[in-house]
Amino acid sequence: MSIIRHPEWAEKGRMAVDWASAHMPAIGEILKKHRETSPLSGVKVGGSLHVTKETGVLVKALKELGADVALAASNPITTQDEVAAHLSDVGIHVYAFRGETRGEYLTFIAEIVDFEPDIVIDDGGDTHVYLHEERQDLLQSIVGGTEETTTGITRLRALSEAGKLAYPIMAVNNAKTKRIFDNRYGTGQSTIEGILRATSLLLGGKVFVICGFGYVGRGIAERARGMGSKVVVTEVNSLRALEAHIRGFSVMPLEEAAKIGDIFVTATGQTDVIRKEHFGLMKDGAILANSGHFDVEISKEDLEALALKKREGVREFVDEYVLSDDRRLYLLGEGRLINLVAAEGHPPEVMMSSFSNQILSVIYLIENDGGLDPKVYDIPKEIDSEVADFVLKGWRIAKDVLTDKQKRYEKKWR
Ligand code: ADE
Repeated sequence: MSIIRHPEWAEKGRMAVDWASAHMPAIGEILKKHRETSPLSGVKVGGSLHVTKETGVLVKALKELGADVALAASNPITTQDEVAAHLSDVGIHVYAFRGETRGEYLTFIAEIVDFEPDIVIDDGGDTHVYLHEERQDLLQSIVGGTEETTTGITRLRALSEAGKLAYPIMAVNNAKTKRIFDNRYGTGQSTIEGILRATSLLLGGKVFVICGFGYVGRGIAERARGMGSKVVVTEVNSLRALEAHIRGFSVMPLEEAAKIGDIFVTATGQTDVIRKEHFGLMKDGAILANSGHFDVEISKEDLEALALKKREGVREFVDEYVLSDDRRLYLLGEGRLINLVAAEGHPPEVMMSSFSNQILSVIYLIENDGGLDPKVYDIPKEIDSEVADFVLKGWRIAKDVLTDKQKRYEKKWR
C-alpha cells in the first residue's frame, strides 16, 4: 500500500533511478558481496529520507538484501514524484508526494511508524523524534536506527543526553566517507545548481555571502568562488572564521555583509540567522537561499512582517517581498533546502558514499542486535574504510599498498 501522487509516472521514475544507479557503482559492489546471504531477510526497514532517484537506489538495494521497506519523505517539498511512483511499483511502501501539507507530512511519518519497523532510517530526525514522543509502546521492539544529517545527529545527541534515547543510532553523517564528500562537495555543487536553476542569473562578479563555514559552507564557498563570485563568510566559531580567512575568503559580521551582498545562503543548522535587522540593510534585489536542513535559518516571520507586499512565484521557486522603501528581496524555495527544492539534491556519485554507509550500518545493526547500547554511535572505522574501498572499486581506481618494510617502519618508535 502506498500514498503517492502520480502512479502513471512510474516508467519515468524507473529511468531516473536507473540513471542514478549507473553512477553509484559502489552500491552494486555491496550487493555483489552481500546478495547471496540476504542479511536483511525478514527485516522491516522504515524511515524518512528525501525521495530522490538516489534514495531510490538505496531502498531498492535494501529490498534486494531481503528487507521489507517503507519510505516517507523527510521534507514536504523535495519528493520526486516519478521516483515515488516507480518505488511503489516495485513493492516499496511509499508515503510521499511533492507539496505535502504539514499535516500530511506528519501523517506519512505516522504510517512509517505503524509499519512497525525493526530499523529506522532517517534524515533530520523527525521519524526518530516522532517515535520517542508519540509511540513509546514501539521503542523496545526497534533494533536500531541510522541518521543521515548533521541536524538529525544534533537532535539525537540531545535526546541521548536527556537520557531518553531508546535504541542505538548509527551516525551516518559522521562517517568520513559521508561528511567529506556529501556535505562539502555534494552540497557545494547542488546548492549552486539550485540557485542557478531558480534564478538563471550570473554568479560571476556577485557578492555571495555564506552564513556558516562548516563542511557545507566550505563546499558552497569554494564552488561560488569557482564561478567568479566574491565570497564573504560569516561565522560565530573562531576556528572556522580563521580558516575561512586563511583560505582567502572575506570574513565579517552579517551586519556588514548584509549591506554588500547580492546573494545570501545560510548553512548553519541554526535558527533566525538572517532576520529583521539584516533585511533592513540589504540592497534592492538581494537573493536569499537556505542550504540547512530546516527552513528556520532565514526568518520568514520577519520577512512577512516587514514586507508591504508579497508576490509568490515571480519565477518558479522565487517569491518577491517588497519592503516599505520599495526594496525587493527574493526568497528562494520558501527558505527550504534550495538544492533539493529547485534542483535534484546531491549528485548520485556523492550519494553513493553516503548511502553505502546507510546500507552497511543497517546490516551492522542487524548483526549486532542486542549488543549495542541506546546511544549515538559513530560509524566504525572499518565500515568507513570499507565504503572507501567499495567506491574505489566501483570507479576502478587502484591504490598503492605499503611494503612489509614500510609496515615495520611505521611501528618503530626509536
Ligand atoms: N540529500 C541531499 N541530496 C540528496 C539526494 N540526492 N538524495 C537523497 N538525499 C539527499
